Amino acid sequence: MSDNTTDRFFGYLNWLFNPFHGLKTTEVYDLIGTSSLTEHALYLNLGYWRDADTIDKASEELALLVAKRGGMGPGDTVLDCGYGFGDQDILWARNMKPDRIIGLNITKSQVERARRNVADAGLGKSIDLREGSATEMPIENESVDLVVSVESAFHYRTREDFFREAFRVLRQGGRLVTADILPMENSDNLFRRMEQWLSWNLVAGKFNIPQDNCYLIPSCHNKLAKAGFVHIDIRSIRDDVYKPLHEYLSDNRAFIGKMHPLAKIMAELTLNRSAESVYCGLDYILSYSEKP
Ligand SMILES: C[S@@+](CC[C@H](N)C(=O)[O-])C[C@H]1O[C@@H](n2cnc3c(N)ncnc32)[C@H](O)[C@@H]1O
Repeated sequence: MSDNTTDRFFGYLNWLFNPFHGLKTTEVYDLIGTSSLTEHALYLNLGYWRDADTIDKASEELALLVAKRGGMGPGDTVLDCGYGFGDQDILWARNMKPDRIIGLNITKSQVERARRNVADAGLGKSIDLREGSATEMPIENESVDLVVSVESAFHYRTREDFFREAFRVLRQGGRLVTADILPMENSDNLFRRMEQWLSWNLVAGKFNIPQDNCYLIPSCHNKLAKAGFVHIDIRSIRDDVYKPLHEYLSDNRAFIGKMHPLAKIMAELTLNRSAESVYCGLDYILSYSEKP
């Protein structure tokens, strides 16, 4: 094995099996690389499954759900925070036709690949993908109509800083829409509560979710209000995310072949458990709010 392959192997080992691995978010995504669950694109989200029967379709449906909730369309300047490999931006540019999409992402390896994807799609003029953080946006005050974030805000240090920055860059009447992961309210049943703790902490540990972002829907609502947002609407869409995803992956295990050998073990172990148990600590929300 070359040094690089050895480093990657031990990096993976550390990430998967050491609960105190302490990798940074960018290191996690560098390790995952392009091992997306999707077959035809490089989405990194869990998908919205109400009308989808493949992971590719479900990933697109989640991106479209966010865009439609925000009323994305011609005339809009959109800021997309946490754009992964940029597939969602290409989808929106083609389907929703906003004037312009600016993206922010902190993972350099993804930024480079996403820019190539956008150039290959011939959309370099309308999509401007930048390296930068959602918590310190290199964006002018009141210059954006719609801020969106698809399955990324749980990473931000902190989500509240992101709300504050989103409020700053939005014009009057601008909208903020996120698809995001929160913990579930604790069950009264002690065994269930332990399962929930494990469920949340496995994900929070692996994906570097800071403790500061660990709160329920009512607190999320309060934090949006504190940032200045109005007409706040947050609803759980978890029933259309986790269980159908789990069922699909259990029946279609070919994706495991794309994974690192160590990740394969983890994936098989997870898929042999029930969706209720694996995801019982995780809520999944669609949130909408406006700048007055
Ligand atoms: C789960 S992936 C979702 C990617 C994409 N939205 C999708 O649906 O395929 C989370 C993304 O958030 C990005 N990210 C994490 N922290 C960030 C931050 N502070 N600012 C901007 N992007 C961030 C990661 O690099 C990654 O691209």
